[in-house]
Amino acid sequence: MSKYIIRGGAPLFGSVTVSGAKNAAVAIIPAAVITDAPCRIENVPDIADVAVFFNILRRMGAQVRDAGDGTYEIDASGISAPVATSGDMQKIRASYYLIGALLARFGRADVAMPGGCNFGAPRQIDLHIKGLSAMGASIDVKNGVITATTQGRLHGASVFLDAPSVGATINIMLAASTADGTTVIENAAREPHVVDLASFLSLMGAEIYGAGTNTIRIHGKNSLRGGSHSIITDQLEAGSFMAAAAATGGRIEINNVIPKHLECISGKLCEMGVSVWESGDSSVVVEGTEKLRSVDVTATPYPGFPTDMQPQASVLLCLADGTSTVTDNIFDTRFKYVDELLKMGASIKVAGRTAIVKGVSALTGAQLKAGDLRAGAALVIAGLCARGTTEIEGVHYIERGYENMIGKLRALGADITGVSDTAEAESTAV
Ligand code: EPZ
Repeated sequence: MSKYIIRGGAPLFGSVTVSGAKNAAVAIIPAAVITDAPCRIENVPDIADVAVFFNILRRMGAQVRDAGDGTYEIDASGISAPVATSGDMQKIRASYYLIGALLARFGRADVAMPGGCNFGAPRQIDLHIKGLSAMGASIDVKNGVITATTQGRLHGASVFLDAPSVGATINIMLAASTADGTTVIENAAREPHVVDLASFLSLMGAEIYGAGTNTIRIHGKNSLRGGSHSIITDQLEAGSFMAAAAATGGRIEINNVIPKHLECISGKLCEMGVSVWESGDSSVVVEGTEKLRSVDVTATPYPGFPTDMQPQASVLLCLADGTSTVTDNIFDTRFKYVDELLKMGASIKVAGRTAIVKGVSALTGAQLKAGDLRAGAALVIAGLCARGTTEIEGVHYIERGYENMIGKLRALGADITGVSDTAEAESTAV
């Protein structure tokens, strides 16, 4: 798709089913590389980041079979060289998980630097390097390729993460799964996708304790076996639909969720005056309100309010009664989307890590450009509640992490259309 066209104003009503979690899928797929036995992964979301990762594995020599209905079988026995340097590596952030996975299997990794959402400041990998080096890896970064080598096997180590980095926690877990000895990760990330990876690695025979807490212990094994696993549902997709219901003043039921993972989001929405309640053990209902209340939002590591919901929260607060603040304690420059909201009549000032959002009576449709995945989702939500028509370019970012967003929103009553690249080309052809 080249752009989305949204005619705003319709409250969303109905039910939607959430897909498998992108950030769990892109951690579990590389984990399958650690073994030469086949792995079966269910509830894989149909999103661009997953398709890119499967292409990367295929180019390395792995077999990836689509077994239908979101299930894939990965057989990495055909990977003979621990090298991942194809152009696809720059398309996603998570491609660098292959460093930990290839080190765990081969004791060496030649992996191209990752890509992923650009929030302004460069996204570091020093904590990944700190952890892998502590385990005995020698790491060199040259010409855009990270080369990690070790004499024999990695060995266990104690690693303190200066920031509870999701990526570093995941990369170290992957590498530690076959290290000689025990690795302890202190100040580890606690996100649901970290726990889901630990579940999958355990099914492969890894011995991991404490995932979901800030201290994770991994007792390395000589090798791992194949495993089968169903990916958890996406906390961030669910949260984005919750925000869409709140922004449009509608009422939707969101199915196939893990309510516990949504508590940090539900709590903040309730502060804004939105009604959120659990319906059964895997659904939540969200009902908007006439006028949202202004609140202060601070994005912090899980179980705090997710940084990946920060842009969506800002959109809601554009319509709240009064002045709110949105502070991101994880990424200090994740506010590029604000310029786009200003085109819609929003009143936002960014000062360092904080956006000061003054509620306005309404947003108006405009021509917008998404700059990253969650900013794109936020702009869609803004278009849904704006007066008039909004066109959003850069929707490839959205399609990296949201399965069938258009179909799911249309089923809820949204007036949203995707314009394909070809149609766009034809319509602009002279
Ligand atoms: C993961 O990115 C997610 N991506 C991001 O989601 C998410 O925003 C982020 O975690 C925070 O939750 C995936 O899971 C694929 P971090 P990651 O390492 O691992 C600093 C989305 O929308 N840091 O937890 O790159 C870093 O600069 C994406 O789905 C270092 O200083 O994030 C940041 O300030 C966008 N050194 C903080 O830690 C390092 O070596 C958290 O980053 C690594 C990170």
